[in-house]
Amino acid sequence: MTAIVFSGLQPTGTLHIGNYFGAVQNFVKLQTQYKCYYAIVDYHAITVEHDPEELRRNTLEMGMDLLACGLDPRQCVLFVQSQVPEHTELAWILSAVTSYGDLQRMTQFKEKGEGQEFVSCGLFTYPVLQAADILAYKASKVPVGEDQVQHIELTRRIARRFNSRFGETFPEPEVLLSEALRIMSPAEPTRKMSKSLGPKHYIAITESEDSIREKIKTAVTDIGPRPDTNEKSPGVANLFLLLKLTAPKEIYDQFEDDYARGVLKYEPLKRAVADYLVKTLEPIRARRAQLKEAEVREILIEGARTARAVARRTLEEVRERIGVGRVVL
Ligand code: TYM
Repeated sequence: MTAIVFSGLQPTGTLHIGNYFGAVQNFVKLQTQYKCYYAIVDYHAITVEHDPEELRRNTLEMGMDLLACGLDPRQCVLFVQSQVPEHTELAWILSAVTSYGDLQRMTQFKEKGEGQEFVSCGLFTYPVLQAADILAYKASKVPVGEDQVQHIELTRRIARRFNSRFGETFPEPEVLLSEALRIMSPAEPTRKMSKSLGPKHYIAITESEDSIREKIKTAVTDIGPRPDTNEKSPGVANLFLLLKLTAPKEIYDQFEDDYARGVLKYEPLKRAVADYLVKTLEPIRARRAQLKEAEVREILIEGARTARAVARRTLEEVRERIGVGRVVL
């Protein structure tokens, strides 16, 4: 039987190269090998303050970005999470087999909640909804960046507890990591690339060539290697990673060699990173410009229809197992 893959992305505006190299590039590869479900997770995005109009817009934009990156609706199911209400129903059910202590240990909750005046209960239970996303399709493989690994481990524990209480129902999904575990912010390379830090901290997949060149040119490199080791500084390591992901191996090896010999100059390194990044993103930008909104909406509606039929079957089974729904006299 073909394995089932699930992954999700929050509709936080534009897709950045951290999302792309950390996850989406893998989505594209996997769609030809497995049965893949990819969701734009709008219900996750409401756990922090948001503007409704912007969320609606971003949801569609994210669909366009994903299609531009190469997701093919003939090969995978692409949909918007809120259009399949079974996710939220399953999240409630799974919350009953999720340990409160486990949720308290989630580092992303701590990071996102820190310093906020209002921390929603939804932000706390967010990983349960994530588990429901995955388990509604009985997915066994989840391609994500490194920051999501803890959430997938929790999903495994939730699946295990459900199975041991109610009988074998869910697989314990495994994480599929790409080579780009974690792309860092060019402006502050000790922090993960993320939209929420502001425009200096991320490079969008649709960013203009000038802007990409400027961000790479001004990328921070001079924090220096740790004095006790010969390790690259975080900024230099990030540039090398981007080069590895975009340039031919000989070019990459040449720069590694220069580094090892202590003759590396940042300027040519940065120029090469910018050149190859621009080249890699160019076809995505071109495809993005050709997409029509109406066409994308249709794809998302059709995707939700397909996804819902599967999620509905899982929910029927789950309700039966936990003893709700059918009134027994
Ligand atoms: P999100 O929307 O923050 O990110 C989407 C994907 O991009 C990866 N990623 C990165 N990878 C490398 N370097 C970076 N700087 C970087 N930034 C983001 C993330 O690891 C992720 O794979 N909770 C999830 C969404 C989600 C989900 C799911 C994922 C909801 N339900 C079920 C998998 C399965 C999130 O907020 O990802």
